Order: sequence, then structure tokens, then C-alpha cells
Amino acid sequence: MHGCHCTGQRACAGTYSSVFVGTSLTRCDWKSQLKAGPGWGKWKQSLPNWDIITPIMCFRISINQLELELHHILPSLDCHIAVYSAMFYIIGLGLCDERDITVRGLEAVKSSSRVYLEAYTSILMVQKERLEAFYGKELILADRDMVETESDEILRDADREDISLLVVGDPFGATTHTDIILRARALKIPTRVVHNASIMNAVGACGLQLYNFGQTVSLVFFTETWKPDSFYDRIKDNSDLGLHTLVLLDIKVKEQSEENLARGRKIYEPPRYMSIPQAVSQLLEIEDMRKTGTLAADTTLAVAVSRVGGGEGNERIVAGTLAELAAQPAETFGEPLHSLVIVGKRLHHLEVAYAETFAVNRESWRGVAQSAYGCALDEQ
Ligand SMILES: C[S@@+](CC[C@H](N)C(=O)[O-])C[C@H]1O[C@@H](n2cnc3c(N)ncnc32)[C@H](O)[C@@H]1O
Repeated sequence: MHGCHCTGQRACAGTYSSVFVGTSLTRCDWKSQLKAGPGWGKWKQSLPNWDIITPIMCFRISINQLELELHHILPSLDCHIAVYSAMFYIIGLGLCDERDITVRGLEAVKSSSRVYLEAYTSILMVQKERLEAFYGKELILADRDMVETESDEILRDADREDISLLVVGDPFGATTHTDIILRARALKIPTRVVHNASIMNAVGACGLQLYNFGQTVSLVFFTETWKPDSFYDRIKDNSDLGLHTLVLLDIKVKEQSEENLARGRKIYEPPRYMSIPQAVSQLLEIEDMRKTGTLAADTTLAVAVSRVGGGEGNERIVAGTLAELAAQPAETFGEPLHSLVIVGKRLHHLEVAYAETFAVNRESWRGVAQSAYGCALDEQ
């Protein structure tokens, strides 16, 4: 083929931050010079049939304009042009282990020159080393400070090379990650989100219909002096509409004690994960203060879920009244991470039947569903 021919990598419209030219001409004078250029190995790898692939310029123009320009510069060359836009990826890892990444996510990881692992909003059930071995990449741990206040370091050079940020679950399953996407956009760095399973949808494993959930809330560890209770208003809103509430339980990873924080000492406490009995106790403590009747120990049903997506031996689902859940020993709920679903009054009899398999006490589960929730159930 003679003349320039454009091959848009990843997309053919819009603007691009990096442009690479390849040619099938073995006699091209540029070859040795270009091969020594930055990025050669990477581009050769991603476009294996090309003899030469090299960045020729970094600018932002449309692909049509680019084609015209290069045709003008290289009219006689048998030449292909690849337009490659470097990308900042935020990749969901799913809920369990290294094998939950999607094929698309793994490809992005492999193409990235730096890969960060965000491990403070959620955790996987395996260590970082297992991920590194499977992905074939070294991972840089990104703590809260790095993601929230030092995102420039994560985004460094992301307009010239692929950079990935790995997030447990789905990137939009935590509020933090929209912020870094906005910052990347402000720097005109193209971004792409690779989705995966999240607790926000996998919680359906407990048998309650996702369509019947209202606002999700987060429950933080109370201290003697700090008992934030705004979550209660949202549980009440959901409850007034008859909807279920997914309650995400606090995790503290790489946190400093108040004293160390005040003294500026970078000494971190061991990780802590809120347990189900503690969550129930905090919910009832606030009900006791507010007294709206939204939650009641003996007549509010709830489902505790742990390590959802972790498969047999890992995942635990336990259903009961708040009082029944609070009375269970911690082992009943398995290892963290834990979440709790407060059952809403629009409970459907099929939801009752499905979740009954997880009930601490099936009779009491059905009894409360009938008496407090008005569910019409078949006699058993
Ligand atoms: C801030 S959220 C982040 C969610 C994550 N980005 C996602 O999409 O799944 C973290 C909380 O979700 C809940 N969670 C996450 N994974 C879980 C799992 N596999 N089983 C039960 N709860 C889980 C826990 O309450 C945990 O503290």
C-alpha cells in the first residue's frame, strides 16, 4: 500500500495524546534511529507486524487532520500511521482473588508501565504478591494519602504511557475514584474504566432483590467522643419507602492513632474491620437515641454477608432479627469483609423463601416476616 494509511488504535475519532508511525519499508532511513527511540519495545509488542513503530510527535489533533499532515510529509513512503492514545485505566478487580480480573483489565495491566493497587477502601482475599505473580507486574500500593492528595504522582506521564490503578470490586463501588478521574480529565489525560463485580450488586446473593434496595450507607467505627449518625436518616428514608438498605461496614487500614496523627508520626495501627455484632450494636445505639421506630431488635430482619464472591469456605450469609444476629459469636460470620442488609417492609415472599436458607432460626425468620412485615407465606 502506498501513501499514508491511518490505523487508529483504540479509537478513530477524537483527539490523541501520542502518535506513532510504523512503516513496512525496510530501507527506511529512519529505522535504526527510530528503533533506539523511547517506547520502541512496547509498540513493537502491541503491533507485532510492523517494522517500525515509534513516537513521532506528541500532540492533540484529529485523526483526519493527522492523515492529511502525514500524507503531505511522507507522500512517497509505503507507510502506516498508528494513532495511539495513552490511557489512565481504573480497573475493577472483583471481589475474591487474582483470577477475578477481567480479560480487558488484564490486558490493560500488561500494557501499563506503572500499576497501582488501591487497598484502603476494600481488600481482596489474597495478598498483593499473589496478584503480582498472576498479572506478571509489580504493584505499587496506593494508600489514601496517595490517591486523595498525591494523585499527581499516580498520573505522572499518563499522557504518554499507560498507567493503571487497580481497585477492589468495581471502581464506582467507592466514592473516592470519581475524583481521580476528574483530575485526569482536567489534565487532558484520556481515562478508561474497566468494570467488575462489586458488593453493590453481589449482595444479591443473599436473596433480596437488588431492585428493592434504597440508598447504601456506610457505618464507621464509633469512638467515645465521635458517633456520626447521618446514616440513620438514610436507613429511615429507605425504611419509609419499604426498601432494603445495604450497610457497608468500616475498615481501618493504615490509620494513625489520634496521638500519632497530632504529633505527625507516621506510625500506623493494625488493620481493623467492623464485625456484624458491633454494627448491630451501633445501629441500635442510634435507634435508642432517635427513637423513630425504624429499627427494632426483635422485629427488624437483617442479613449479614461476608466475603461475598469468595466461594465455598469463604462466603457466609446469615439471616435473622437484629437481636439474633447480635447474639451470634463472631465466628458465625466468618472472616472480613462484612456487610449488613436491613430488610425493608416491601419484602416479597420469594425473598423470604430464598433468604430463609441462611436463617439462624427459620421459624422465627418466617414468623417475623409474617407478623412484622405482613408477608403472606404458605404454611410449611
Ligand atoms: C467502601 S466499600 C468499597 C466497595 C468496592 N469498591 C466494591 O465495589 O465492592 C468497602 C466495603 O464494602 C463491603 N464489602 C466489600 N467487599 C465485600 C465482600 N466481598 N463481602 C461483604 N462485604 C464487602 C465492606 O463493608 C467494605 O467495608
